Amino acid sequence: MDASPTLSRAHTTPVRYIDGILCLDGLPLDQVVAGVGTPAYVYSLDAMAANLVRVQQAFAPIGGSVSYSVKANSNQAVLARLAALGAGFDVVSGGELSRVLDVGADPARTSFAGVGKTDEELLLAVRHGVLVNVESADELDALQRTAAAMGRRVRVGLRINPAVTVATLAPMQTGSARAKFGVPTDEARELVDAFVAGRYPDLEPVGVHMHVGSQVPEPGGMVRATEVLLDVLEYGQQAGLAGFRRLDIGGGFPIDHGGESVPGPEEFAAALAPLLRGRDDLELFLEPGRSIAGPAGVLVARVLYRKHRPGRRMLVLDTGMHHFIRPALYRTSVHRILPVREAPSAGPTEVVGPVCESTDTFSEDAQLPDLVPGDLVAFLDAGAYGMVMASNYNTNRRPPEIAVEGGSHRVVRPREEWRDLYASEG
Ligand code: LLP
Repeated sequence: MDASPTLSRAHTTPVRYIDGILCLDGLPLDQVVAGVGTPAYVYSLDAMAANLVRVQQAFAPIGGSVSYSVKANSNQAVLARLAALGAGFDVVSGGELSRVLDVGADPARTSFAGVGKTDEELLLAVRHGVLVNVESADELDALQRTAAAMGRRVRVGLRINPAVTVATLAPMQTGSARAKFGVPTDEARELVDAFVAGRYPDLEPVGVHMHVGSQVPEPGGMVRATEVLLDVLEYGQQAGLAGFRRLDIGGGFPIDHGGESVPGPEEFAAALAPLLRGRDDLELFLEPGRSIAGPAGVLVARVLYRKHRPGRRMLVLDTGMHHFIRPALYRTSVHRILPVREAPSAGPTEVVGPVCESTDTFSEDAQLPDLVPGDLVAFLDAGAYGMVMASNYNTNRRPPEIAVEGGSHRVVRPREEWRDLYASEG
C-alpha cells in the first residue's frame, strides 16, 4: 500500500492518499460519499477524540479541564463522542445548550458564554444548573432576576476583556480593548465590589473567563491576558469572595492548514505553567473548538463545470459559500482543496461556487489537476466552522454530515429536502 505522509502535523488529521485515492481514516472518500452524494461533510470521530485527548493530556500537568466549544461543530454524534471522553462543554445559545443536554452531558460541567443571552436562554441555563459566564452589568441584573424568580443559586463567571490583541485575522480578535466581549478590568473590579456588597444574592461568583481570539499563532497573548485575569481573581479573593477561583482562558489553539508550523497545545500549556505554579487553589478551564474538530473533517464536493477564461482555469463546484463560508467571510484561502483522485497539478485554478455573489470564490489559485465534470475534490480542515455556519441562501439544501468511527461510516445528519426548507411558510 502506498500511503503518502499525513498532510498536517500539529493535530491529528485523518486525511491521506492511499493508492491514489484521498482517504479519511483509511476509507476512500469517493466511496464514503457514494450513498448520499455531494456535497457532504465527512468527519473522523476518532481524530476528534485524539485531538481532545491531546489537549486534555497537554493541560493535565497544570490541572486544566477541557470544555469543548460546541460552536465549532455541534453535530450530536460529535458531542456524544466527546462527552464519553470526559469533555465538558461551552455553549453560546439555548440551541447549543439544548444539544448538550440531549446527549446526556453533565449540565454542571457546561458553561454558557455570549454577549447577548436572552431571558429564555438564561432561564434554561438556570433551570439546569449551568454556569453562566456573564458579559455585562445588565446581564448580571437579568440573571439575578431569573435566579431569584426560580429560587435557584447560579454559578457565575465574569468574562473579562483583557485588552490584549493577538496576532490573528482581525475578525477573530476577541480580546482587544475595542472588542464587544467581556467587561474591562476596572468594571470587573466594580462588579466584584457589588457582589461583596450583596447586590446579587442569588448569584455565586466562581471566577473569571476570557477568549482572546481564534487561530492564535503563539501563546504570548494568551499568557498576558491570563495575567490580567489572575489580577482580577486576586482582587476578588482579597475582597472576600471565597469561591472565586475559576480561571477559564477560552479557546483559540491554532491548527496547521498545511505549510505553516503552529504550536501545539503542549506549547501553550508550557507557556502558561509558570503563572500557575503553586496555585493549586485555582481551577483552570479551556474551551478549544477548532483544534479538536477542524483537522478531523473534510467537505467533499463535485466539479459541475469548467469555465474557460483568458489565461485562467476555472471550476464551478456543487458547493459554495452557503455551505462553507470561511473563505468568503474571512477572505482567506487557507483551506487546501485536493482532488479525491490524486494527480499532478496542472497549474493554478480558480475554484468557485454556484451562489449569486462574486465573493462565492474558494480560491483563485488552487493547485489542481485538469479536472472534468463529475470529479471530486475535498476541502481540508473543514471539521470546524463548516456545517455550523452553513445557510440555506438561495433556498439551497445544506450538506449531509457523515461520521467515520472505528473504521466504518454512517450518516449523522441527512441532506435536507427542498420542501423542508419552506414547508412551514405561508
Ligand atoms: N470560547 C469562546 C467563548 C469562543 O468565543 C470561542 C470561539 C471558542 C471558545 C473556541 O475557539 P477556537 O478554539 O475554536 O478557536 N467562525 C470563526 C471562528 C470564530 C470563533 C469564535 N469564538 C472561524 O470560522 O474561524
